[in-house]
Amino acid sequence: MLNRRFMILSTLLAASLAVAAQSPATLKDAYKGAFHVGVAINFAQITGADAVGDALIARQFDSISPENALKWVIVHPRQGTYSFDLADKYVAFGEKNHMFIVGHNLVWHNQVPAWVFQDEQGKQVTREVLLQRMHEHIATVVGRYKGRIQSWDVVNEALADDGTLRKSKWLEIIGEDYLVKAYQWAHEADPQAELNYNDYALEVPAKRAGAIALIKKLQAAGIPIAVVGNQAHVRLDWPSAEQEERTVKELASAGVKVAITELDVDVLPGVAPGSAEVSLHMAQDPKLNPYPNGLPEAVQKDLAREYALLFGVYLKNRAVMSRVTVWGLTDADSWRNNWPVEGRTDDCLLFDRNDQPKPAFFAVIEEAGKAQK
Ligand code: G3I
Repeated sequence: MLNRRFMILSTLLAASLAVAAQSPATLKDAYKGAFHVGVAINFAQITGADAVGDALIARQFDSISPENALKWVIVHPRQGTYSFDLADKYVAFGEKNHMFIVGHNLVWHNQVPAWVFQDEQGKQVTREVLLQRMHEHIATVVGRYKGRIQSWDVVNEALADDGTLRKSKWLEIIGEDYLVKAYQWAHEADPQAELNYNDYALEVPAKRAGAIALIKKLQAAGIPIAVVGNQAHVRLDWPSAEQEERTVKELASAGVKVAITELDVDVLPGVAPGSAEVSLHMAQDPKLNPYPNGLPEAVQKDLAREYALLFGVYLKNRAVMSRVTVWGLTDADSWRNNWPVEGRTDDCLLFDRNDQPKPAFFAVIEEAGKAQK
């Protein structure tokens, strides 16, 4: 009898060891102790319509960002009307899975409804009115998730490519101090929340200098800015490890942590390195869509090499890194599909169009292993 029990137990043990050996490592475990590994999640994932995606997100990542669910146009579409249905579900998903939850974003030039900048007659509002609207929005949204959203992209993409302030409606109507005010009000609404400044193409020296100057201005105004987010919408051949490392180190030298907030690696031609200028549109052209049916093996390898190179840099600089977030779960989900050219799929992420891990995924896992040796 004892013998039989022993045999059953050892068979069960052998079976579970075999399963453990086969099951692939996860991104969050591979980088545990170094930084959070996050993913931007879309409406289908927030609402549970993409159950396969949800399981993958819960298994692989320990941080989430809302691809759209917390943007002004979604949560505050009309004056006096807030709509928190998707945002509530987003936060609940993160809490259920014990994740580091990011709020994206409060003040941006995109996805803000026209009413915000206009009065009832359609005339541009005054500085005072816009400040009051911005204050109310920030206090309401941040206040609702006080203690539940750990990190806020307070102002997003305030800089032009040359590092000067972008000529947005916020700047035009309020003036430069819209930045300090936005951070002050976010801090008042949740003093524990981490405050971020988030922008793209900070690998470009002039833009990076602008970001550092901006952070110093916020610090001088007494804002406890904690993190600078470099979106890292990069390309197969850009940046180099040296460029990315210089970017991380120089940003951190402003006295903030660095987060990579929207990582993806563009595999298609046509877009300037680092750009995420959503207003860009280009005509369809077969030359701009070389891999309509998926990536050839050689390009998969290039993609894997660039992802490994980047994660290698982030790991090496882990002391100043807080998080690395990819902007989308699978190649079927990416915002890059159809931008700036309609009808393209940009296989730029770690999971393919069928939710399967790509060579780039395994390269990222392997990179973490290398550092431990
Ligand atoms: O919700 C509407 C829907 O009602 C409508 O029927 C449909 C028709 O096109 O559009 C839907 O809105 C779209 C929205 O995504 C939600 O799917 C918008 O058209 C579309 O423009 C919007 O794109 C988002 C883009 O920001 C807008 O600027 C992308 O999903 C999102 O990934 C992208 O994310 C930005 C970051 O927030 C900031 N950094 C750059 C990054 C990439 O552009």
